[in-house]
Amino acid sequence: MKKVLIVSYSQSGQLSELVTSLSSPIRCDEIEINHKIIKPKKDYPFPWSFFDFMDCFPESIYMDPCEIEEVEDSNDYDLVIIFYQVWFLSPSIPVTSFLKSKFAQDKLKNKPVITVIGCRNMWVMAQEKMKNLLKDLDAKLIDNIVLIDQGNSIATFFTTPRWMLTGRKNSFWKIFPEAGIDKQKIKNSSRFGFAIKEAITNNLEKENKSICYGLNAVSVDEKLIKSEQIGTKSFMIWGKLIRKIGKPGDIKRKPFLALYTAFLILMIIVVVPINMIVQTIIRRINKKKILKEKAFYEMPSGSEDFRMKDFSKYE
Ligand SMILES: Cc1cc2nc3c(=O)[nH]c(=O)nc-3n(C[C@H](O)[C@H](O)[C@H](O)COP(=O)(O)O)c2cc1C
Repeated sequence: MKKVLIVSYSQSGQLSELVTSLSSPIRCDEIEINHKIIKPKKDYPFPWSFFDFMDCFPESIYMDPCEIEEVEDSNDYDLVIIFYQVWFLSPSIPVTSFLKSKFAQDKLKNKPVITVIGCRNMWVMAQEKMKNLLKDLDAKLIDNIVLIDQGNSIATFFTTPRWMLTGRKNSFWKIFPEAGIDKQKIKNSSRFGFAIKEAITNNLEKENKSICYGLNAVSVDEKLIKSEQIGTKSFMIWGKLIRKIGKPGDIKRKPFLALYTAFLILMIIVVVPINMIVQTIIRRINKKKILKEKAFYEMPSGSEDFRMKDFSKYE
């Protein structure tokens, strides 16, 4: 019998819904699924206070692990699926902590891995970090599936933080949509489960190549790549300073976090619009290079959708 390990962490329950929808088609008599939920010993608050929210950016960007509950498991898995969210352009701290654990070292070595991301819309740098974490474990990334929050970048700039800081997800003022991933998109992610089941049944997971291709698994917004690169640099510089001042939760970090927040807001109001104009011009000139970059970040699953019709009966 084939064995699949699913690993996830979710604060609001959104990623758990994604686990249910994507994995239910895989559940059958021939495949055993074990779902491990990552449990930090001191869990992160939800909804967040503003200080707690900002206070976790230095450790997120530097991927400092937190303590997590250990798990016992003697299974040898055929496939591992990791569901994760992005925190400050990095895999969330609980997920990073799992990937740095002894358990992950034992279970992921030489195994095919599928990553499934549920986040606002900035995940490219986080996935690059994920690739390195998996490389350190000698695991093989065969697919990456990404679902992002509904609404455009300006709308989610308000709806996602509002949801994180108050717990309120509802649409408001007629112009802002509900926060989070569109429920129908979560439901439709079952197509990946059907593709995974079909592939496992035919031993295709062993071939070290994508099994979720042609299903519109991922689409990189090339307009966001530069912003993510600049954001990562800024988080690294300020994060280094704040980590030196104190440990997470240390009151001494507060004034520096306040200063950085002011700096960030100023950057967003002044620098981001100027950068967007400059980047639009650069993208026009460097069209070929940008498309190459987009295709690289969309690997290994790609944005093509030619197999959608094979699985559309399930949607
Ligand atoms: C501290 C924090 C930082 C976040 N940073 C990002 C980010 O850099 N990029 C992004 O697309 N989403 C970001 N998000 C949104 C999350 O990726 C995710 O969509 C949200 O936390 C819901 O996940 P859940 O299933 O854990 O509730 C952030 C959320 C939190 C709480």
